Amino acid sequence: MSLKTPLPLKRIAVLLSGNGSNLQALIDYQAQAPKGYQIVLVISNKAQAYGLERARRAGIATCVIEHQQFPDRASFDREMQTVLDAHQVDLVVLAGFMRILSAPFTQHFYGRMLNIHPSLLPKYPGLDTHQRVLEEGDAEHGLSIHFVTQELDGGPIILQSRLSVQKQDTAASLQQKIHQLEHCAYPQVVQGICQGLLELRQDKVYFKHQPLSQPLELSALAQALSEIA
Ligand code: GRF
Repeated sequence: MSLKTPLPLKRIAVLLSGNGSNLQALIDYQAQAPKGYQIVLVISNKAQAYGLERARRAGIATCVIEHQQFPDRASFDREMQTVLDAHQVDLVVLAGFMRILSAPFTQHFYGRMLNIHPSLLPKYPGLDTHQRVLEEGDAEHGLSIHFVTQELDGGPIILQSRLSVQKQDTAASLQQKIHQLEHCAYPQVVQGICQGLLELRQDKVYFKHQPLSQPLELSALAQALSEIA
């Protein structure tokens, strides 16, 4: 019998605006590795987001906070913060949440908020990343998972996954391939944070208590997670 007391599950909230396939990956990962985190809330700024349906099916509480109902960004963000704090959320996971966040909001969740972005940051922050990769003729593309700071798509990078761009690739094919990588990487990063393997200290990402000098590769994280499973 193990004498180790299991860590309490971290309470995470997922913020989304659309399809929510990354939410689904987080739900599925948690179902097969029920340690580390529990999704306590899904917030969407769009009532029609399919991600809300995925949450309901998984029995997760949902909340729609429509940005059009607020006079400005600051008041919209304040409402989200109130709801997140009321749910005692340990970690906020952005998964296709299409709103720019205000400085007070990002500061409040400093070190406790993550984003996934479909490019090898600092290349291609913002939208249409797959098309821009093709237009530039890049040989390589990928995704970045980073802590969120005030700078759009600019916070400290935790992990990147890469793929080679093929001659026949289109924006749609790249999107599909990146999505597959995302579904594999994002839950493991969330799990890594919730299990204490990853943290942010003074704008530096620490992995196993050592500062990272470059973004982590998924194989190293997967290995570390398997050692503590
Ligand atoms: C993902 O490609 C993610 O990188 C970006 O938004 C997309 C969300 O996709 N931030 P989904 O809603 O999780 O399917």
